[in-house]
Parts: sequence; structure tokens; C-alpha cells
Amino acid sequence: MDSGPLVLAVDQGTSSTKALLVDAEGRVVARATAPLSEAQPQPGWVEQDAEELWQSVRAAVEGCVDAGVAHRIEAVGLSTQRESLALWDRRTGQPLGPLVSWQDQRTAGQCRELAAAGAGPLVRELSGMPLDPMFSALKARWLLDAYDPSRRRAEAGELCLGTVDSWLLSRFGGDHVTEVGNASRTQLLNVDTQRWDERLLDLFGVPVEVLPRVLASCAEFPAARGLGPVPDGTPVRAVLGDSHAAMFAHAGWRPGVVKATYGTGSSVMALGDPGGSTALCRSIAWDLSGAGDMGEAGHMRGAGDVTGPVHAVEGNIRATGRALSWLAELFGTDEQTLLDEAPPSAGRIQFVPAFGGLGAPWWNPDAVAVLSGLTLGTRRGDLVAAALDAIVHQVEDVVSAIDASVGKVQVLLADGGLTRSARLMRAQADLSGRRVARSAEPDLSCLGAADAAGLAAGLWSLTDLEERLRPSTDFYPEMDERTRAESRERWLAAIDRTLS
Ligand code: G3P
Repeated sequence: MDSGPLVLAVDQGTSSTKALLVDAEGRVVARATAPLSEAQPQPGWVEQDAEELWQSVRAAVEGCVDAGVAHRIEAVGLSTQRESLALWDRRTGQPLGPLVSWQDQRTAGQCRELAAAGAGPLVRELSGMPLDPMFSALKARWLLDAYDPSRRRAEAGELCLGTVDSWLLSRFGGDHVTEVGNASRTQLLNVDTQRWDERLLDLFGVPVEVLPRVLASCAEFPAARGLGPVPDGTPVRAVLGDSHAAMFAHAGWRPGVVKATYGTGSSVMALGDPGGSTALCRSIAWDLSGAGDMGEAGHMRGAGDVTGPVHAVEGNIRATGRALSWLAELFGTDEQTLLDEAPPSAGRIQFVPAFGGLGAPWWNPDAVAVLSGLTLGTRRGDLVAAALDAIVHQVEDVVSAIDASVGKVQVLLADGGLTRSARLMRAQADLSGRRVARSAEPDLSCLGAADAAGLAAGLWSLTDLEERLRPSTDFYPEMDERTRAESRERWLAAIDRTLS
């Protein structure tokens, strides 16, 4: 009977929480998923329940960890959805109001006002991001305006604001803390100094006392508590934003890696700097400075490259998988059934799922969803085919922007639940004209959290992680250049229509 160490990884995402147990060889030995709900109380508003998030973490862990092996867990790694924001009472730990989702558009009006007042360039320079309701800063203002309009309680240190990592760690007790990569997605952090920036705090009306202390990605986080069979006090060794965790699981510290995660939305990420590009964001991928020995791979590239704060170039697409789940809701069925019955795309229907505006590379919160080219012969399968096209075109829009800012992307590394669809991967290769390498393990965010936690616990090095990279399946473009160009043109014309 095996008695080696185990790493428990939890990925708290938008539609579910996943948990994995990984052994010392990096093999996944157990896994479980707990579903989550979201609410749309008004058009454009998307909320989740912070308490339900915490309970889903407990349920996923309980489903994954057998009481007989719990004592072998040496490290916990956490990956989380980003930008979504909660406000809670520091003393009681009880949330005030909803968790405002990254998808939420309630602050679009405030965003427009700040843009009209000329705040955009400064916000971008300091935070690395465009003014957009997706980021946490305006959600922070909204929550404080709703629950502490005078800011008296916030300034007195009675309230805590935090992204999902911070919220979950608060359930373990201890300090109010957050991880730097997650913090860099709030639009309140200075992306160069990795500190809360006074100018941003002033602009968004957020007192610093309400914000968590920023920690590196492998740091002294509050130890696990209340996670079912997991012994209280089991150390949390690593925390990463979910997209960053997926990048880490692709051994994304290697030069030239560009990945796309296909989830509710999508994130296309590379390490580096977007330069003058306004299509992409600049954030912190991770900071491994507390992670100990990196092995040869760490030394080879110099400690500064691998162990300090590492910048990432990223484009976020708001709705990719969400387009499919929306169709499933509409037709009262599930996504798999829709995928199974969808005919090949004829490319005549354009579906731009700008349900909550458009993110990268367009960054237009006022864009509206568009469905065009319907005929009396259009069937639901045709809409599904158009939704799949929309996913790959949107990803390609961002990859093209990355081409222009950090250099030609030869291979796109793909992960996320939707990559199970070989059809989607083939379409991505075709409409991108690039090789697409699908990860053998779709839930890479969870594995990335495990990889980082095991690294920090000394169970393996970066070199080990490179050596045991999970095999991928390659998809090569087969579409001829002309068909691809025409299809891209039709798509870009449809994007224009979302702006009217
Ligand atoms: O930026 C939002 C992202 O972190 C959410 O990811 O996987 O929950 O759709 P996911």
C-alpha cells in the first residue's frame, strides 16, 4: 500500500470547484467536482454566493479525499477564478452582499464616466489594464457604496474586501491576505511595484485598510482548516489565479509558450510585456520567490527570471463556453447533447456572444451580442456550430494581438474542459492557421496549483515538472488560406456590427 506524500489541489472556478490529489510522481490519484450556481438579478448583473463557493470547496475536497489518505497530504495548492469580489465583516467572517462576478457589467456606466474624465491612460499605465467592468476596482467601489457608503467601517478596519483566493483563505482564519497574481487583476495593484497604488485607490474610492496584504504565490498562507478529512493545519503552499495556474501547468516559464484556456470565458496568455498594445493586459503571472529550490530549470534561466514576480501578457474573452451553456439553457438541454448533434459549420451564421460587452482585444463594454445570417432553415445545430466558430474566432483575435506584441505564435497550447471537443480543436487550428496542442489533462488550472504547491513543499523541482510534462494531442491546420481569410473577414464584419 502506497504511503508517499500527496498534494491536494483545489481549483475554484466560475461554474464549479474541482479538487485533485496528486502523488509524488505527479499522477492524479483522485478527483472530484462540486457544481456552483450564479444569479443574474438584473440585466448585465452576475452574482455568486460567497458562502456557496466555500461550501463547494468543502464538497469537492470531501469528494476527492478519502479519510484513509488525508494524513499523507503534505501541501495544498489553490487556484481561483479571478476579479470576482466579495466584501465581508472582519470579525464575524460573514459576507456583506453578493460575490460580484468577473462577468458582471453593473459598473459599465461608472467605467464610461471615468473614461470620459480621461482616467483611462493612467489606469492602464499603473495597473496594466484597460478601464473595464471586468476588473475588481469598480466592483470594490460598488460594494462599498452599497454597504459602507461613508467608508467609516472600511477605514476602521472592520471590513475586508477580497478576490476569491482571499475569501477562501479567510475561511482558514489568520490574516487578511491575497496572492500577487490575483491582486494584479483587481486594477488596484501597481503592476510594477506589486503594491496597492494610492492613485488607483483614490480614483476608485477604496480605503487601503479594507484590502488584504499581498503575498507571493508560494508564501506563508493561512493553513487549511475546515476542509473535511484534511487535517487542520495542513500547509497551503501555493495560490495562483486560475489562468496563471494553467500557464504554470504547461511549464509556461519556458520561452515561447502561449496558452489558451477554454472555460466560461477564455484567457490567452504568454509571459512577457505587451509593450504599447492596448489590446492586451499586463499582469503578474506568479511570484515564486518563496518556493525554495527550483532545480536546474530555475538556475538555467536565472533566479530573476523564474523566482521573482513574472509579468504576463493576457487577453481575456468574456464568453466562449458561456455561449454554449447559454444555448443549452435556451434549448433546455446540456452542452454535450448540443455538441454531439451540431452539423459542420457552413460559416453563414455569425454569432458574436458579446452578452456583457467584448473583452480583449476590443475592450468595449457597450458591444451587444449579434446573431446574423439566420434563415427559416436554421436549426439549433447550426447555432451550436456558429457558437463553436465564435469561440475559435475570439481566441484567434487575441492570439493575433499576441503575435503583434510578443512575436509570432507558432503553437497554441490548449486546456480547459471544452478542449475535449476534437472538433473545436480542429476548427481552432484551421481558423488560426497554427498548430494547436491539446493538453492530455483538461483541468490544468487544478494541476498547476498542485505543481506549484509541490514545488514549494520541495516534492519536485521545475526541472522535474518540465520532464514530466503531460503529453499533448496536436491538431494541424487543414483549411486553405483563402477560406480562412474569408471566414476571418466575415467574423470581423460581425464584430463591427456589435458596436452599432
Ligand atoms: O478572469 C476570470 C477567470 O479567472 C474565470 O475563469 O475558469 O472560472 O471561467 P473560469
